[in-house]
Amino acid sequence: MNILGIETSCDETAAAVVEDGRRILASIVASQVDLHARYGGIVPEVASRKHLENIIPVVEAALDASHCTLSDLGALAVTYGPGLAGSLLVGLNVAKALAMVRSLPLVGVNHLEGHIYANWLVEGDEPSLPALCLVVSGGHTDLVIMEGHGRYRRLGHTLDDAAGEAFDKVARLLGLGFPGGPAIERVARAAPALRLPRARVAGPYDFSFSGLKTAVLRLVQGEGDAPPVAETAAAFQEAVVDALVTKTVRAAQENQAAEILLAGGVAANSRLRQSLAQRLPAGRQGSPLPLRVPPLSLCTDNAAMIAACAYYRLRAGHQDGLDLDVQPGLRIG
Ligand code: KG4
Ligand code: ZN
Repeated sequence: MNILGIETSCDETAAAVVEDGRRILASIVASQVDLHARYGGIVPEVASRKHLENIIPVVEAALDASHCTLSDLGALAVTYGPGLAGSLLVGLNVAKALAMVRSLPLVGVNHLEGHIYANWLVEGDEPSLPALCLVVSGGHTDLVIMEGHGRYRRLGHTLDDAAGEAFDKVARLLGLGFPGGPAIERVARAAPALRLPRARVAGPYDFSFSGLKTAVLRLVQGEGDAPPVAETAAAFQEAVVDALVTKTVRAAQENQAAEILLAGGVAANSRLRQSLAQRLPAGRQGSPLPLRVPPLSLCTDNAAMIAACAYYRLRAGHQDGLDLDVQPGLRIG
């Protein structure tokens, strides 16, 4: 079954056609990053206006690239939350209109769940469940146990800033531009001589990143010479990665996960990928627990992951009506 996925939750207008939840026939992403870079962050009104301009050409490009017409589709998948309300509305209304005129099933997808399904878009066996998922994006940092398709238990989350948000804010403090994650990663190649404090958080699987941001601010604005930007960026990245990896490893061990899945924009960070791979806990047979990480292009926002998720929801008998509405504050588990 071919599913057309549509994703407009934040600042990427994306459409994709995915066959049987695992094979990408086409995936188009129109990024607005240059548009928002001049404001140092995403401006919601600007984003939704740009989605309106982009959405039809992007859907047409995905259909063209997949050599499909609307008649070749079995269903429509669309992100309905979490995200910016005005942005979500653009994708949702296009998906509803197409579903209505073609009498196709409509499946609303949780964006965070979509990020996890990027791990189904890689060749080879499907991930084994239960899987411990670290979902790290610009808006969320969640540790989730995926027990089955559509069945999640959230173990922990960030109490303040999301990991990606912290990268973006610290990059701004260091004058590195937007988006901050890739910018910090680029300059933070050298090993940090500096150590920033780790937050102490009561919940065993919860995170806090706002103190780290303040620590960087103190360094930048403090008396005397600030340390070089590269060193500060590396120390910041190391502190975020350390917190993420420590809690992910613990959660996987304590919850008998069969695999660890990384998901979301921050999963593109090579230091995070490397550090997690080095600190994997032992699995059932004593060998390291398998770790899955989507390819870089599928870590950040895309519509293929939305179509993949919808395939499994549909297979489980789930379908939405045309009264489906956006849920900007939706969470997972
Ligand atoms: O998942 P995503 O594309 O959008 C949301 O759902 O939020 O994540 C975007 C976030 C941004 O905060 C960006 O700075 C971060 O992912 N990011 C990275 C990297 N690439 C993107 N963070 C750290 N290292 C990266 N290489
Ligand atoms: Zn995302």
